[in-house]
Amino acid sequence: MHTIKRFPDNFLWGAATSNVQAEGAYLEDGKGLNVYDMLPGVPGSTDSYIASDHYHRYKEDIALFAEMGFKAYRFSIVWSRIHPNGDESQPNEKGLGYYDDMIDELLKHGIEPVISLVHFDMPYNLAKKYNGFASRKTVDCYERHVEQVVERYKSKVKYWITYNEINTAILHPSLVAGAQVPNGKEQIKALAKINHYTQLAHSKAALAIKRIAPNAKVGGMIAYTPFYPATCHPNDILGAQFINNYVNFQKLDASVNGKYPEYLNTYLINRDALPDITEDDLNIIKNGKMDFIAFSYYQSGVISAPKDEDDIKSLYDDPQKYIHYGLKNQFVKSTEWGWQIDPIGLRYAINELYQRYHMPLFLVENGIGVSEELNGNMTVEDDYRIKYLGDHIKQMKLAVTEDGADVIGYLSWGPIDFLSSGKQMKKRYGYIFVNRTDDDLRDLNRYKKKSFYWYKKVIASNGERI
Ligand code: BG6
Repeated sequence: MHTIKRFPDNFLWGAATSNVQAEGAYLEDGKGLNVYDMLPGVPGSTDSYIASDHYHRYKEDIALFAEMGFKAYRFSIVWSRIHPNGDESQPNEKGLGYYDDMIDELLKHGIEPVISLVHFDMPYNLAKKYNGFASRKTVDCYERHVEQVVERYKSKVKYWITYNEINTAILHPSLVAGAQVPNGKEQIKALAKINHYTQLAHSKAALAIKRIAPNAKVGGMIAYTPFYPATCHPNDILGAQFINNYVNFQKLDASVNGKYPEYLNTYLINRDALPDITEDDLNIIKNGKMDFIAFSYYQSGVISAPKDEDDIKSLYDDPQKYIHYGLKNQFVKSTEWGWQIDPIGLRYAINELYQRYHMPLFLVENGIGVSEELNGNMTVEDDYRIKYLGDHIKQMKLAVTEDGADVIGYLSWGPIDFLSSGKQMKKRYGYIFVNRTDDDLRDLNRYKKKSFYWYKKVIASNGERI
């Protein structure tokens, strides 16, 4: 009898980058400002002017990825490099040419490019003029952008991710969807509108990719933070179920099944928050099919619901209040940034996704952010990173070999150090140290950390030597 003991031979090992966080080259070669450039950043953070200077050093970086043996590399095409204002009809040739070269460089090294469309890089003009994805106008601009990008790279790129962590638009609307939302009673309505337009953006992108490149593989992507009930009190169970649907599943339910789930429609109708959805929209959502589910996994969360039976309603009315990433799970440790380290949660997450959707899964972000400095040997002994990644890979393997999930690849977050989503250089994820700090650019040289050599072995052994 055939038993599954290993990852498949064609398993896609590698890592992922968000180019706005790594490139720098602020307004070079016709690039326009984007929402990440304009983000204030967390206290002590820096700006996106230089970042890790990946724009100019990508060849050196990709050569290091090849040395580690990457089979695949996920990166984002910065929207505001291709359409600096977002609403122009013609793309910026210099921007397109830049990513042409980057893709060629990857292919030269035998690395499969995996492209993310829209990753914190909406042209700022669209955010200012139309309030980002709170408007149909932005959806139209996005569709044109996707068509032109796919047309350009269709012969070289197979894997496309339509929208980075689309489900987090309701948690961080300005960075993820370029939209400002009101507080108070109007918030649910405003978020529902953004949710609908981001859904349309995903579905239109999926349709465009298949129309232009029929053999391409389309992935919809979410950030998956499984929320556990704080206790076995029925309200905690119900509350966690609601929050998981609200945060983790509603976008995939719509994208995979081709229609909005009943729980969402009912929820919005009851709150007079159903957005304007046309017949045409419903057809687009029905037909925009995906080939795989991409997801990021960093941590799990805990939900403690109000315990009075009638009170559970307050959780439904204000879910944002209950999405406590900070609520401590006493059984797991946390990173310096308070992110709860839960490798078994990854096995659970994979099982939840696979058993709900029966679709190939691609883990496209996983990693640990740590504040680090070079030691006297010009390296970083990052055993904690080796442990974090190794423990997660082991659990992913169990989901494949023991639970039967179909996982097609693993891309860790941030092969080189670059700015965090809050614009901190201090929060490093890389196998490769980039020599700068938040307030000192130093020489930006690259140095291999201990984990560089470890990951190389993991890949060479197809996940056997962890
Ligand atoms: C994901 C994003 O949410 O998490 C990345 O897709 C981000 O862009 C990553 O960098 C890690 O989060 P942070 O805040 O530590 O950078």
